[in-house]
Amino acid sequence: AAIVEHVFNVENVSVRKLCHDRVITAVNGALPGPTIQVSEGDTLVVYIFNKSPYNVTIHWHGVFQLLSGWADGPNYITQCPIRPGHSYIQKFTITKQEGTLWWHAHVSLLRATVYGALIILPKSGCYPFPTPHKEFPIILGEWWNGNVIDMQNQAVALGVPPNNSDAYTINGRPGDLYPCSKKHTYKLKVVHGKTYMLRIINAALNNQLFFKIANHKFTVVAVDASYTNPYVTDVAVLAPGQTVDVLLTTDRTPGAYYMAARPYASAQNAPPPGSTATTGILIYDKLPYTSPIMPLLPALNDTPTAYKFSSSLTSLVGSPNWMPVPTKVDERMFVTIGLSLSSCGPTATCKVIPNVPNLRLSANMNNVSFQSPTRLSLLQAHYFNVKGIYTPDFPDHPPLKFDYTNPANSNSTALTFAPRSTRVKQVKYNATVEIVFQDTTIIGAENHPMHLHGYNFYVVGQGFGNFDPVKDRKKFNLFNPVIRNTIGVPAGGWAAIRFQANNPGVWILHCHLDNHLTMGLATAIVVENGPTLSSTLPPPPLDLPLC
Ligand code: C2O
Repeated sequence: AAIVEHVFNVENVSVRKLCHDRVITAVNGALPGPTIQVSEGDTLVVYIFNKSPYNVTIHWHGVFQLLSGWADGPNYITQCPIRPGHSYIQKFTITKQEGTLWWHAHVSLLRATVYGALIILPKSGCYPFPTPHKEFPIILGEWWNGNVIDMQNQAVALGVPPNNSDAYTINGRPGDLYPCSKKHTYKLKVVHGKTYMLRIINAALNNQLFFKIANHKFTVVAVDASYTNPYVTDVAVLAPGQTVDVLLTTDRTPGAYYMAARPYASAQNAPPPGSTATTGILIYDKLPYTSPIMPLLPALNDTPTAYKFSSSLTSLVGSPNWMPVPTKVDERMFVTIGLSLSSCGPTATCKVIPNVPNLRLSANMNNVSFQSPTRLSLLQAHYFNVKGIYTPDFPDHPPLKFDYTNPANSNSTALTFAPRSTRVKQVKYNATVEIVFQDTTIIGAENHPMHLHGYNFYVVGQGFGNFDPVKDRKKFNLFNPVIRNTIGVPAGGWAAIRFQANNPGVWILHCHLDNHLTMGLATAIVVENGPTLSSTLPPPPLDLPLC
């Protein structure tokens, strides 16, 4: 195993996109930032220098951080932010996982421009499928013409979600369908008759995305750095945070084909996002330029296509790092997720609802709208046993039982208001945890991509309507469920996950739509230390950023 070192200079740079000049915060002046490649078992050491005017943290999305939770990166969860002019060295070993992950800022909206790919090659050098001719990261993103931090501050002050983005991007580029963008469209040159691997990452902030390539099917072989049974499709659906590795065989008539992505927008009662697709061009070798063929993308609200994709994936039994699903459950949680109203807080003067002052739009889990600490990170509070930062009393159930998919039929007003607090769930080392996420329609149904740090989980079931503990549990896939770190909980439906809490530390569990995280759709799972040194979280590094 090697030690792989990188320097991340987080700094402001000027860029021009969509006919606008803008100053963005980026790593080493690039958008996307550097692609990091390691082999499983390597130790990654990243020297982060914050030369930007903002508070920064860097999160390694999907990396287990086994006994290295201090390097996880979410702001005020495992560390305080790296202040302007300060630095932090994140050092961790990447074990028991291989495939495509990514890294991104985990503070305010900075991840809009602070992100990049993290590729973990197999230790053995072999994939459980024929070695592709070449591999390429395809990173989907979102772009705003305005300053995202200003936009965020304004949205928080008003108690409303931030503006929709001005473009979607492929590897940082909006593509041919946007103004002033043609010259910079991402182009992927391929040779006829070869098989390529595309490592697709959804780094967008607030939109799930459909991805297609005109006239081509592809085979999904892994998601979230975990192998799947080969699944042939002509469309992939990725929630923010998710990755999908596909094999693409270039066996069509030589020519130019667009690859394109645009939103899967499940939210009711919300302004629709922009529907112009971002495009890149797949170009077969040695061709005079022809104008590319455009794929037909699903409609913005095409939930059946999104559900078919996500529910058709299964894990590849016996592949590297695969483990059977735990059948005995120690901790069972039923967690409603959705939007709500919360008070604006002492300083804000927000007013979103006529005649109801001091309320803002919020989001919650079991009617707890997560309030991030500001004095100390949760992990420090846990490790040093500092009281008053959080309480380990996250409710295992919502306060009321009723039909979550039809609030009109029941008294849902008690569920509309979600107080803000820092209530977390504490579990014993090695406990098997099952969480059923139930989407609510209390302020509009919406597919929420739930992401857990520090773990992969088995998606043992998903469906529409209200979760039925008897009938739906009988249908759980305990044989080869897909293994992920982010699951899009179907709009107006539910998803059930299981994981084994074998990584002590504090792990945020949140909606990966950035505006919902900001609005409180989060909690943290505190996993206690185990009995031995190899199940005990070591002390923090000496340069851990302090508050
Ligand atoms: Cu990809 Cu908590 O993040």
